[in-house]
Amino acid sequence: MGSGVAAMMAMLPKAGLFAADETSQSSDKTAFALDGNKLRLQGLGLKKAVRLLVLADSHLTIDDERGEPYKDYSKRMAQYFQQSIPNLEKAASVVKDKNFDLILMLGDMVSFPTAKGVETILEKIKPLNTPFAYIAGNHDWHYEGESGTEMELRRKWTEKTLKPLYQGRNPLCYNIIVNGINIVMMDTSVYEILPEQLDFWREQVKAGLPILLGCHIPLWVPGRSVGWGVAHPDWNASHDQHWEIERRPRWPEASHTEVTKAFHKEVFAAPNLLGVIAGHVHRQCYDRYCGKFQTTVRATGFGGSLDISLN
Ligand SMILES: [Fe+2]
Repeated sequence: MGSGVAAMMAMLPKAGLFAADETSQSSDKTAFALDGNKLRLQGLGLKKAVRLLVLADSHLTIDDERGEPYKDYSKRMAQYFQQSIPNLEKAASVVKDKNFDLILMLGDMVSFPTAKGVETILEKIKPLNTPFAYIAGNHDWHYEGESGTEMELRRKWTEKTLKPLYQGRNPLCYNIIVNGINIVMMDTSVYEILPEQLDFWREQVKAGLPILLGCHIPLWVPGRSVGWGVAHPDWNASHDQHWEIERRPRWPEASHTEVTKAFHKEVFAAPNLLGVIAGHVHRQCYDRYCGKFQTTVRATGFGGSLDISLN
């Protein structure tokens, strides 16, 4: 590149808040703190602060006559998380005292697609008068032993039971912008990413706003187990320990698709990604990879939540 062209490039206006050439400066000035279940990112230069409450893995098992035909499929998971409703109420109750902009629900909010469970979540969340966003986890659409591929069952139960949680949004991926922060919700509940999800991610990166990515199954970070399963190199049939007990199709012999691998690579390479928030592993963990953080949330079914402040 000639020096004249370089000078001209330097004069071009920067697109978005986090243009690629200023990202390193911006992240240098950003302070990250994790204090108990409170995560703070300070120095983002937002005109107005953002406060998010993250819930995940509440694992409600409450059921009624609509679940009767599926009792054989739900009986194993129905034994667990007996305190899930009071724990959900307790985790969500902080919204009454403080001003949260948005409640994120990152999947496995029910232990199987119980209509009564979905209604109960809405009964607990709607009166808080705070916008909410939901993305599915691997249990939300799964009746153990029901025939069909995971993608077919996800589609079926999204339509049949989970639909009200999405409030008309695309169940596979969507975004919500709050005070200049782009919150991208991505379904990772089958461990794989579809081409339309990758396209959507690329659009969000191009848009330039700082991104917080919310999903259920966390993205692979070196050293982590297959619980951090999106693009994990060991995600394949030989490492699938639970397919028989969960009565679901075994993971494929050949590991992830090229689309999923590209998604993983591009997420951690995105100059405007602040970090990833996920559920699934039921405990609060923190990773740093390629200069980005990924935090998982302690299961709300055990009383866990994550309180995020951005400013
Ligand atoms: Fe999960």
